[in-house]
Amino acid sequence: MDNREKILYDNGRHKYVMFSFDDETHEDSFLSVNQYLIVQNGVGVLIDPGCESIFDELFEAVSRHVEISKIKFIFLSHQDPDVSGSIAQWAISTQAKFIMSSLWVRFMSHYGFMEMDRVMALSDHGAKLRFGKEYLEFIPAHFLHSPGNFTLYDSKSKIVFSGDIGAAIVPVPTDYKHVQNFEEHKQALHGFHKRYMGSNKLCRAWVSKIEQLDVSMIAPQHGLIFEDEKLGEFLEWLKELQCGSDFMKDLY
Ligand SMILES: [Fe+2]
Ligand SMILES: [Fe+2]
Repeated sequence: MDNREKILYDNGRHKYVMFSFDDETHEDSFLSVNQYLIVQNGVGVLIDPGCESIFDELFEAVSRHVEISKIKFIFLSHQDPDVSGSIAQWAISTQAKFIMSSLWVRFMSHYGFMEMDRVMALSDHGAKLRFGKEYLEFIPAHFLHSPGNFTLYDSKSKIVFSGDIGAAIVPVPTDYKHVQNFEEHKQALHGFHKRYMGSNKLCRAWVSKIEQLDVSMIAPQHGLIFEDEKLGEFLEWLKELQCGSDFMKDLY
């Protein structure tokens, strides 16, 4: 198996895969990006497939886990190019429906995507979607960092895909993908969150949603996964984080 791929959960019928494909032409920018795939009984949900330049590699990797024609949904946590840049390519090569915040639907035409009837637009409060015997829950994470932003809870694996929340600009090692030491990892989280996330109040609103769920892992779009005691440590850290508009005086 490619070392840029890791199975986070697999019970034979339900699988959760993490990919770490980067745009190698821009390695200097050092923005490691993770993409995810859920497969249940042969039906797939692709999460934040990223930019155009990784499309070919990701397509090939995804097709090893699910028939491309069986990808039913593609979820886009927000509008950024590292999340949604390849929407036009995925629209051509699948029959999937695209799930995203209603705030960003019309912007997708600027990535060359015109099939608006294939979009399931989420209103601000999010939605629960049946997925086989389980469900997927689209949890609001607005202004963390995008104004229309969702995270995704998979009720079977109990993994929360957190988008840019929990993102760290660190290379993802090939031999592990989980945070080893939260105290050390905090340094990598802090700069990104302080500037990109909306405010402490918004962080707390998201944490309180997550605390109501039975969660096994928090899997961000950049950097490493939070599991076991690191998961609790991360949520506690986020609750106390001062960020975004908490530093208004420094910004204006
Ligand atoms: Fe983003
Ligand atoms: Fe991102």
